[in-house]
Amino acid sequence: MRYYPRTQLAVELANALQGKLAFSDAPNGLFLAAPRRTGKSTFLQSDLSPELARRQVVVVYVDLWADQKRDPGSLIAEAVGRALLQQLGVVAKATKSAGLESITVGGLKIDTSKIGRVDGITLADALRALVDAAKQPVALIIDEAQHALTSEAGESAMAALKSARDQLNRPDHIRLMLVMSGSDRDKLLRLVNTNAAPFYGSQIQRMPELGPDFIAHIAGLIANQRPDLGDINQATLYQAFVFFGQRPQFFMDALGQVLSPLATHDGRFEDALLAQATERQRGDEAQMESDYTALKPLEQAVLWRMLEQGTRFRPYDAEALLFYADKTGEKITVAKAQKALEGLRAHQPSLIWKSARSEYAVEDAAMLRWYAQRVAAGTWPPLGPQLDWLED
Ligand SMILES: Nc1ncnc2c1ncn2[C@@H]1O[C@H](COP(=O)(O)OP(=O)(O)O)[C@@H](O)[C@H]1O
Ligand SMILES: [Mg+2]
Repeated sequence: MRYYPRTQLAVELANALQGKLAFSDAPNGLFLAAPRRTGKSTFLQSDLSPELARRQVVVVYVDLWADQKRDPGSLIAEAVGRALLQQLGVVAKATKSAGLESITVGGLKIDTSKIGRVDGITLADALRALVDAAKQPVALIIDEAQHALTSEAGESAMAALKSARDQLNRPDHIRLMLVMSGSDRDKLLRLVNTNAAPFYGSQIQRMPELGPDFIAHIAGLIANQRPDLGDINQATLYQAFVFFGQRPQFFMDALGQVLSPLATHDGRFEDALLAQATERQRGDEAQMESDYTALKPLEQAVLWRMLEQGTRFRPYDAEALLFYADKTGEKITVAKAQKALEGLRAHQPSLIWKSARSEYAVEDAAMLRWYAQRVAAGTWPPLGPQLDWLED
């Protein structure tokens, strides 16, 4: 078994989206954040989508990270276009009407060949047409939605979604449901937290991670397969899961190893698993440390400033320039800082995220936790072998 269904959570969120919960803002859009690899995409596709489909909702799912080379705006437009074509196909077949070159839905004439390349305005039209053609509500699920803010086309797609939502929905009749997920709460916040943000005023919710019920389920499976192991220590398994960052894939892989007939540990498999989890955590931190210390001094200083300032980070203000100068021992111009930022973006994998409005954030929120821990432990900044670069 690789997949643990989360039916209850899917039912709750579907209720919220349909406006069945008092005091829930979900009908205006549901924004869900949780770290990478904690099971968001799996949940959205394997639990939430089928639950909505059971309720006669047409589900359109698009993952903006699926192909990072593609513009997020056109990924959204294409997903809506595909769903529309499907619905129109149904309509066309039913009425044996003309081909799909152009078709009229809800008073709107649509050139189907163009939907894949629609700009923001026609995206809203396409959504309205989809709702009309389907004669059912539509749920648009955008996974890693923060990525939309990295391009202007993506930004205008978001604005179009909001306007389509406002036109289609009435408090007692929700026809367009929007679900946006993201791996980083701070980035997702930019969709909702300023006056100019497309979904200003909406709240970001933490998507619950897999928890003790998942571990109990796994323990049950182990007990079934390996009665020779006796009582299973679920508390230790859960602890290990937490050390693996509640990322099921790493947990399951390690579990496979410690339960393998070829495993070499002495003692209980739970303890061996916990040891692996601890090691993995150290490994992750060592990786961040070596990534950081391998950067040029100014890049380190810029990243440091970003980690320290969070959403308040302004790359070129006077204080930032002084900070860089202080850390590098050199006078730092805006041009130099700009070059360092570009270096951080070009780094493989990219260390920083940039929005279409030139807002910056660290790419991986795990780095923020690592930074906070080291500051608390008094071990920041990490001193790598590159320290002598400072004398360059
Ligand atoms: N409910 C689940 N039960 C078991 N394994 C899961 C579950 N959800 C996710 N996983 C595992 O975790 C991995 C990462 O999940 P994914 O949904 O891609 O996370 P995210 O979208 O948050 O990055 C998947 O490849 C899968 O192996
Ligand atoms: Mg995902």
